[in-house]
Amino acid sequence: MLKIALPKGRIGQESLEIFEKIFDKEFKFDDRKLILNIEPFRFLLVRNQDVPTYVLHQAADLGIVGLDVLEEKELDLVKLLDLNIGKCKICVGVKNNQHIDYNKPEITIASKMENIARKYFSQKAVAVNIIKLYGSIELAPLVGLCDGIVDIVETGATMKQNGLEVSEVIMDSSAHLISNKNSFMEKKEEILNLYSSIAKVIN
Ligand code: PRP
Repeated sequence: MLKIALPKGRIGQESLEIFEKIFDKEFKFDDRKLILNIEPFRFLLVRNQDVPTYVLHQAADLGIVGLDVLEEKELDLVKLLDLNIGKCKICVGVKNNQHIDYNKPEITIASKMENIARKYFSQKAVAVNIIKLYGSIELAPLVGLCDGIVDIVETGATMKQNGLEVSEVIMDSSAHLISNKNSFMEKKEEILNLYSSIAKVIN
């Protein structure tokens, strides 16, 4: 059996639709249930940021999660396949018509993604104070909490409606199929079979 951790929300939903296409039957979690058993799979429904944790600890053999989450977590996991869903960009955002003043001795950035933000500015040799937030990041520069934000931009609507704009693009992200090394070795044939079926459907 292959245990697969899926993120709640749209990526999880679109992942199940990929399985529906491959196997030509319904893959759907019942109401509030967090486990879905459809032989030979067991799907686990978890928070987006928790997918790599379930896979790392082998509670799941496979997971589907955004590249941004993998970058942020910096865990030793196997990236198997880009599913081309959940596409977004990780960007630096500032108030309209403004820019980050790199002449300041230290800039302040608000973000859910502390590691990505810290790494990005340290590569530019800029001293940065990161303020960790858990959501509504676009609010932070509007009320003077920070000079800018590092956040996910999908349609761009949240930034636009809050008077922010992208000043720098840090990375592109999309959902990837991931595994841990042990599961990959132990269940290589099953995993590679599934890999091929998914690759066929998404291409
Ligand atoms: C994410 C992200 C942005 C928004 C971007 O937030 O942090 O706020 O989506 O999407 P857009 O470019 O299509 O507007 P999410 O919806 O996860 O809510 P959160 O603020 O609670 O993190």
